[in-house]
Amino acid sequence: MKADGRTRIKAALAATAPQEGLLVKGWVRTVRRGKGVGFIALNDGSCLTSIQVVLDPLVPNFDEILKVKTGGCLSVSGALVESPAKGQKWEIQARQVRIIGDADEAYPLQKKRHTFEYLRTVAHLRPRSNTFGAVFRMRSALSHAIHRFFQECGFLYVHTPIITASDCEGAGEMFRVTMLDAARPPLTNGELDWTQDFFGEKTGLTVSGQLQGEAFAAAFSDIYTFGPTFRADNSNTSRHAAEFWMIEPEMAFADLADDCKLAEEFLKHICRYALEHCAEDIAFFNERIEPGLIDKLEGLARAKFQTMTYTEAVRILDACGEAFEFPVAWGNDLQSEHERYLTERVVGGPVFVIDYPASIKAFYMRLNDDGRTVAAMDLLVPRVGEIMGGSQREDRHDVLRQRMRQSRIDPKSLWWFLDIRRWGTCPHSGFGLGFERFLMYITGMQNIRDVIPFPRTPGNAHF
Ligand code: 4AD
Ligand code: MG
Repeated sequence: MKADGRTRIKAALAATAPQEGLLVKGWVRTVRRGKGVGFIALNDGSCLTSIQVVLDPLVPNFDEILKVKTGGCLSVSGALVESPAKGQKWEIQARQVRIIGDADEAYPLQKKRHTFEYLRTVAHLRPRSNTFGAVFRMRSALSHAIHRFFQECGFLYVHTPIITASDCEGAGEMFRVTMLDAARPPLTNGELDWTQDFFGEKTGLTVSGQLQGEAFAAAFSDIYTFGPTFRADNSNTSRHAAEFWMIEPEMAFADLADDCKLAEEFLKHICRYALEHCAEDIAFFNERIEPGLIDKLEGLARAKFQTMTYTEAVRILDACGEAFEFPVAWGNDLQSEHERYLTERVVGGPVFVIDYPASIKAFYMRLNDDGRTVAAMDLLVPRVGEIMGGSQREDRHDVLRQRMRQSRIDPKSLWWFLDIRRWGTCPHSGFGLGFERFLMYITGMQNIRDVIPFPRTPGNAHF
């Protein structure tokens, strides 16, 4: 029970016996009026199902209350009684109903089903719909499960900075953070003088917490981050957001195989958690969003993830006879169409692609003995493609310096990152799981904009 004496609707619906003097509060989904009786479906977001409130004319202000509109907010006290209606165990026989906040016909979430595109234009209201209620309950529950998994495995949770001078992925996709006057920027020899900026150097929003995470792994052995990351790539796809959340574990004394092992255990654990703890919402997604979802997740929890090298992947794609939009050749990055072909058609499930060409991966990945590939891994899953990227890290000071130069990164700017290799360097590995990509996989939702509360994409940051 809450401090205001209210019971959450989820708890009321899970009751084992009738109960007098129950108080619930929530928002009206539907109002129906029969002969001498009224029905209100009330939802407080604690679960998918709304509770049915039954009013008889003895309830004070009976007529006035039944004029309440969809979207209005009510406080209802009454008795929890067994429901004669099909498909619901309990309903509330109202004794008193108070209108906390009325609504009018302009409320956008009326009974008819809206498209997800439309619901994005009312991002402030969509959490009150069935689908988005389920999505955001899952997002919350799985965030908790992720923390629990790592804490129970002895990983230290580290808060890596949001504002940073280091571009981890080296892809130049950082959002600029500056206090310089855009109309009158300070120039030195015609060049922008960042030393006069707030932090005394050029800074941006982090694209990954990995670099700082590595410093902590070299002190605490096993660490993880779970926070917002930002990418200013102008890709308007259903899988890219400018602001997204990433889970990044980093393990000392671990090679690429250990990394894949952790990734597999972790994902299976979270899938099992979802099946067990989010059963009602998962059943909804299974029915309305992705038929077969439950089988898929149960299968994933049992499966042994497959592994193939990038070189094998290219060979398979090259020989498969499929007409791809982007050419397949050793040295080219795999495109989304290739990734999906591999996971959906070749493997039929999750697959780690490992040992990518050094030239297409970030500078920090460990160079393999062949001198051309790095100890990288991407995890590809059906429908979404890449949900995770990781690697064993380059732990040799000299090789790392050389890889920085090849990637046009000034070793001086990352002197502290090189220091980790100077004193007590050790093999270490980690990965980044895009939380939204994972949520897409686990809910069946097809657009990243529909698994993050207020999506940020090119042209959209209003809500
Ligand atoms: O593959 P990425 O770029 O890897 C890293 O950032 C490493 N530093 C991670 C590490 O090893 N600690 O990104 C990791 C994951 C991707 O696999 C993808 O799931 C997600 O982050 N991701 C995005 N998700 C949504 N929108 C974007 N623009 C994303 N870019 C990457
Ligand atoms: Mg990647």
